[in-house]
Amino acid sequence: MTVSASPLPNARQLFQALRAPAFTAGAWIRKLPGRTARVYPSGRLSLAAGVKASARHSSREPITVWFPSYICNEALEPLRCMPLSLQFYPILEDLSPDWSILEQRVASEKGLHVFVLVHYFGFPNATKPARDFCDRHKMTLLEDAAHMLLPIPVMGLGDHIVFSPRKLLPVPAGGILISARGLEEEPAGALWKIPLAGETGRWLSRRVAQRILFSCHLPWHFLWKNGNGARSAGDAADGAIGPENCDGFTLRLLSIMERGLEEVIERRRAHYLRLLDWSKQLDHCVPLFPALPEAVCPYVFPVLLEHVSKGIGEKLRSQGFPADQWPALPPEVLAEPKRYEAAVDLHRCLLLLPLHQTLTAIEIDAMARALSASLGSNG
Ligand SMILES: Cc1ncc(COP(=O)(O)O)c(C=O)c1O
Repeated sequence: MTVSASPLPNARQLFQALRAPAFTAGAWIRKLPGRTARVYPSGRLSLAAGVKASARHSSREPITVWFPSYICNEALEPLRCMPLSLQFYPILEDLSPDWSILEQRVASEKGLHVFVLVHYFGFPNATKPARDFCDRHKMTLLEDAAHMLLPIPVMGLGDHIVFSPRKLLPVPAGGILISARGLEEEPAGALWKIPLAGETGRWLSRRVAQRILFSCHLPWHFLWKNGNGARSAGDAADGAIGPENCDGFTLRLLSIMERGLEEVIERRRAHYLRLLDWSKQLDHCVPLFPALPEAVCPYVFPVLLEHVSKGIGEKLRSQGFPADQWPALPPEVLAEPKRYEAAVDLHRCLLLLPLHQTLTAIEIDAMARALSASLGSNG
């Protein structure tokens, strides 16, 4: 069996996208009224645009951006090219910021400070404490909701909020920046007029090929170097996403996908609950989030393994189940493993199981059985 790593578009959606209106992120803005949105090709470019917007609205210098130590290095690429300093704060085992350390570290800092709070895997992080912390220290709050499909009630207190619909929907590109202040002067992140070019064409041919192999029940995971077209928590397996990739077709496909978001949420939640049930029978592993709060649309099913997750992940991938590790942490974090112990431990032991909307209950069960067998033989 091969289980697809990312959701696949169907033929109807692809045809509809030829004539659909361009995406304006209406479903996101309706849940965060009074804000403005700008669409970019990826979450990381939306993050960089959010920091630029903060800098434009402030006269304070230098600029420092605070990221949790558990952040994938790839997400920082655009920011590393900007004139600012990146700082990393320790997290606790539940992925919330370690406020006691933060309080000591930011007390004497000067300039503009942007605090990034990540809502990991679609689950809301400590939004209210983050808002209070930023207000007390006159910092800008940027909520990184790249793993969330839509805004949910317990988040949205940030000055800026970033989404990455390309992570949860079958689209080649797409990131959204939503801000409390107007973004009219922000440059659009894409050359919208390029028709079906470059990466989008490659993405499309790959997904269509996967759809066909998938319907023929062919075990095709060994055909691709990256397993089965995996889009990991960090990267697009289909190559780097640059501004040139978010073209007119992508924007129309995004607006088609926007029509079916409720069904996506329902399917992902059902798969999460199914895996939660399975996890009760599994030894040597516990779900990182043992409950699924209302309104949460999970990105993946993260499980903490007693063993190092790498071997189990490799075993599952070789059987066609695209279980993933979290991508590489920033070198600054890896250089100080004691200081960032919780992040380094999570990186070693966390395994991310796919649960996207294209998967069926039968595939979820087969993946859980394969995990159970791998854990048994490793234990
Ligand atoms: C927490 C988080 N934020 C932002 C990003 C960047 O999103 P994208 O891959 O769409 O650039 C990633 C992935 O790299 C991520 O894991």
